[in-house]
Amino acid sequence: MEFLPLFFDLKESTALVFGASDAAARKVEILLKAKCRVTLVAESLNASLEEKSGTSLFSHYLKIDDTLWESAHLVVAATNDAEEDKRISEKAKSKKIPVNIVNRADLSSFVFPSIIDRSPIIAAVSSGGELPVLTRLLRSRLEATIPHAFGRLATIARKYRSEVKQQISSINTRRQFWESVLEGRFADLVFSGQEQAAEEELQTKLEQQVSDKQQVDGEVYLVGAGPGDPDLLTFKALRLIRQADVVLYDRLVSEPILALVRQDAERVNVGKERSNHLVPQDSINELLVKYAQEGKRVLRLKGGDPFIFGRGGEEIETLAEQGVSFQVVPGITAASGCSAYSGIPLTHRDYSQSVRFITGHLKNDTCDLAWEEFVQDNQTLVFYMGLTGLPTICRSLIEHGMDNEKPVALISKGTTRHQKVLCGNLSTISELANQEQISAPTLIIIGDVVNLRDKLKWFS
Ligand SMILES: C[S@@+](CC[C@H](N)C(=O)[O-])C[C@H]1O[C@@H](n2cnc3c(N)ncnc32)[C@H](O)[C@@H]1O
Repeated sequence: MEFLPLFFDLKESTALVFGASDAAARKVEILLKAKCRVTLVAESLNASLEEKSGTSLFSHYLKIDDTLWESAHLVVAATNDAEEDKRISEKAKSKKIPVNIVNRADLSSFVFPSIIDRSPIIAAVSSGGELPVLTRLLRSRLEATIPHAFGRLATIARKYRSEVKQQISSINTRRQFWESVLEGRFADLVFSGQEQAAEEELQTKLEQQVSDKQQVDGEVYLVGAGPGDPDLLTFKALRLIRQADVVLYDRLVSEPILALVRQDAERVNVGKERSNHLVPQDSINELLVKYAQEGKRVLRLKGGDPFIFGRGGEEIETLAEQGVSFQVVPGITAASGCSAYSGIPLTHRDYSQSVRFITGHLKNDTCDLAWEEFVQDNQTLVFYMGLTGLPTICRSLIEHGMDNEKPVALISKGTTRHQKVLCGNLSTISELANQEQISAPTLIIIGDVVNLRDKLKWFS
């Protein structure tokens, strides 16, 4: 190891910082966050340093003198003058004061890592000052996997540390207890902001552990998997996908997203296709309750957003009636995903001031919809589940007064590498869709915004 990572308490210490560069300002910021006193030596201050002056831990000197050197516990320099930086490094080393010269690991006795701050949990990544871009990339990966409320989790758990130690004397049992608590419902409750309920959960777990009456509570996660591209998942969705014991998924959930599910998790395909309901809705609702009552963490994974034409409401209604706990995680709905990946903004100051999400699902070959409301200027219509009914939709809009040359786009398998976009107008699009053999899932966008695609398309 070139550098040993150590975590120092700097609250009673003073850092002597040289220079008023942006790099120096960033280090000052970090030191102040660690509640370290900062003595800055620079002929002038940049705007960000100016903001610090006046705060109690920060003082500014135009010139260095011996008393400043004597009070320093560590030294940082980013003067933009290589010779000056070198002199500072040599002087600090001769006085045995730890020194960091920004971007000069060879002149430094310590380096600043990239920090993931979930106080009181801190993670630090370093390449010894050699490859800052790589460490930043690694840091953003870690950032993505550590929920922001992780610090709250640690703070709350810390409150119970001594009580748990008192009640559970065996180290091994204590470790198992904390593992089950920190990976279980307690953690989920903290992450979803229900801290009071989280503390109650922890207390109950502890009582059960002590009285040896272990009883596991299951939970259902109703998660929106987005329209297809796995990069469009939310951090929260990813975390819950990775921890679920059993997964009930739909036809619309893409393979790369299913691949994120734990290897040992049970997978149940309840996928629904038009007129081919693999598992009827009532049975899905019952399955969710059954698995949760067995104490499992049940992931109900749905394409897009669960509350937009996803019947998510019905599923959690059953859970609520049965007293099963659940969480809902929104996903990017097909309209947002397809709009972004086809270069067709759903609203635009010049062409559309409102947007409607409409079901195009036909009942008895007709769409019983408020067609007259759809025929308005400056509005975008988005039809979900409308491919089979496309001729009926186009005909109905024309019959209710929409210009038969109104632009229409069909986006098939949007956001995936199989995405296909077909543009036409109300009179031509059905024929074009037949010719091009457009297949489900397909979203229909109708409105003048469709014309923007020529200029704004970027994904192919
Ligand atoms: C039952 S709805 C589910 C909608 C989903 N809950 C959502 O928020 O996107 C299914 C319809 O969504 C649309 N859809 C879903 N994913 C799509 C995709 N990747 N590309 C195009 N359309 C999609 C299609 O219109 C499909 O018929």
